[in-house]
Amino acid sequence: MGNRTIGMWLYNNGGGDKISKRIIKKLKERDVETLDNINLRHAIAKNGNIIFDGVKLNKELDLFFSYNAGEQTQYQMYLYQALNRAIPMINSYDSFALTEDKFHTSFVLRNHGVQTADYNLCHRDDGHELKKIIKKWDKMVYKPTDGWGGVGLTKIENEANLDMLMPFLNQMDLRYFYVEKFIDYDNTDFRVDIVDGKFVSCYGRKASGTDWRTNVTSGGSVFMREANDEIVSIAKKACKATGVDIGGVDIIYDRKKEEYVVLEVNGIPAFATPEQEKIGLNFNNKKIELIVDMIDRKTNNKKGK
Ligand SMILES: Nc1ncnc2c1ncn2[C@@H]1O[C@H](COP(=O)(O)OP(=O)(O)O)[C@@H](O)[C@H]1O
Ligand SMILES: [Mg+2]
Repeated sequence: MGNRTIGMWLYNNGGGDKISKRIIKKLKERDVETLDNINLRHAIAKNGNIIFDGVKLNKELDLFFSYNAGEQTQYQMYLYQALNRAIPMINSYDSFALTEDKFHTSFVLRNHGVQTADYNLCHRDDGHELKKIIKKWDKMVYKPTDGWGGVGLTKIENEANLDMLMPFLNQMDLRYFYVEKFIDYDNTDFRVDIVDGKFVSCYGRKASGTDWRTNVTSGGSVFMREANDEIVSIAKKACKATGVDIGGVDIIYDRKKEEYVVLEVNGIPAFATPEQEKIGLNFNNKKIELIVDMIDRKTNNKKGK
């Protein structure tokens, strides 16, 4: 084994398998070895070690690169957290866990001067507060704080809507309600990728037909879209505030307030798929380059095995 070794777990679908190979090759050119497919689901923790296939990850790795959104289980998250107490991880457990929660993310962004949709979080017993809120806001969005892909988001258009929804929400045995003001926007967004504080790419997504959600999983489609300086600077600021080394920032334009609003920061933004590369999303090389640079830097001046 070389001087430096990292562990990696990257998604395989949508061209991810090829991306892994390119990253591993580039790292090798810099004398960094990669143990690939370290799925913590199959690791065991005992007596001060986290062991995968006979390898003590906490002792033998200089860094762990975790990049697999779809297959993340609670067990993996638990070990992710523990492993990050021993070695550096990309993204760090803390920043990744933060971006997995929409309320915590909005809270942190607002405290760092990044504009988000106005939001309210209230205890489940204070559901009546939502009545006052919708009067003030006119329309709002109910969001599960840990969701993705637009799943579970519910647009509430008026008080009658809310009255209908409340019995369902009450049945779900939630601990709290998280709602956002519905932003008047043109049903398109900007997805801006940042790696290591540097701008990688921007593309747009457009909601399909009557849907107000831009997510591809909700029928939205991807299109080429240029960023501007303001959008890039907002995205960088959002990544800095949440502490992610790699982040995909979702931004929409509020037509009423005439300003950009950050909806969320994604801790595992996908590389362009082969189909997306065909329509011109050609940022994979740059993204790989910046990730390899960052891994190289973060593992330098370490241990020196
Ligand atoms: N406050 C809002 N006002 C208007 N549209 C919203 C709002 N929040 C989310 N959306 C729409 O719903 C989509 C999904 O919301 P988002 O917060 O990014 O959650 P997810 O993790 O499910 O992608 C967004 O891309 C956007 O199109
Ligand atoms: Mg989103």
